[in-house]
Amino acid sequence: MYGFGKSEKLVGQFLKQMGREITVATKFFPIPYRITKGQLISALKGSLRRLQMDAVDLYQIHFPMLPMPEEHWASALADALDMGLIRSAGVSNYNRSQTIRAHNTLAQRGFPLASNQLEYSLIERKIERNGVKAECDARRIKIIAYSPLGMGLLTGKYTVENPPPGTRGLQYRRLLPKLPPLITLMNEIGAAHGDKTPAQIALNWTICKGTIPIPGAKNRRQAEANAGALGWRLTADEVAALDEMSDRIRTE
Ligand SMILES: NC(=O)c1ccc[n+]([C@@H]2O[C@H](COP(=O)([O-])OP(=O)(O)OC[C@H]3O[C@@H](n4cnc5c(N)ncnc54)[C@H](OP(=O)(O)O)[C@@H]3O)[C@@H](O)[C@H]2O)c1
Repeated sequence: MYGFGKSEKLVGQFLKQMGREITVATKFFPIPYRITKGQLISALKGSLRRLQMDAVDLYQIHFPMLPMPEEHWASALADALDMGLIRSAGVSNYNRSQTIRAHNTLAQRGFPLASNQLEYSLIERKIERNGVKAECDARRIKIIAYSPLGMGLLTGKYTVENPPPGTRGLQYRRLLPKLPPLITLMNEIGAAHGDKTPAQIALNWTICKGTIPIPGAKNRRQAEANAGALGWRLTADEVAALDEMSDRIRTE
């Protein structure tokens, strides 16, 4: 879906240029006119062609979407696993019961549900409250945390005076005035870890919660900076302090 296939083509091109093993994940969008399991397999084959790969490491159902039930797409993922076209199966934006249904269907075919890609960050902790995180953790389904930088807000570069461009400015207009105490705390904690930035603290926090963050990056500098979230850990006390501050921002 991203760039109508261009994103996958670019990844395929970069993989060839790099010449080393990279873990590649992509997704299936169950647009309502896609209803057969064969349509998932042919969409997957299209992705593989664009990526210039024989098999992808992780294939995810992008959204739970009517009319087809979760069991149907989970069973199609199991077919793809049987065919050797994917190495693991995942979902995205699945709530607790949808996750259980997908997990159980795959388990009946002898496969694990590897992951659920969900929005998760210091400003979006709904998955802790609605039970989906606990369910995934209990079933060893890895949570892939999307928008882990709160779409840029947790970098600390946006303020009331300097809101993010486009729809983000509108979406976060109520949250922006409450953000400074959290960013101050993130800067303080960052200083104790050799000048880590708020973005690196935000990403490390999601890792400490047992998830895999996938931050978006608009340029090389941001990608390199985000990689600085790896190779070290916040302490349990720091995670607790960040939790408390983010709770305060939500409830105030
Ligand atoms: N499964 C789903 O339904 C779903 C939904 C949404 C997103 N996602 C995925 O999640 C990933 C990332 O999410 P996202 O892009 O929405 O949000 P995000 O990772 O929270 O924020 C990314 C944005 O923050 C800014 N940024 C990133 N690194 C920075 C740095 N080091 N310093 C300063 N600014 C930085 C950039 O925007 P600016 O420079 O313009 O501020 C960048 O586009 C993407 O791969 C996306 O495909 C998945």
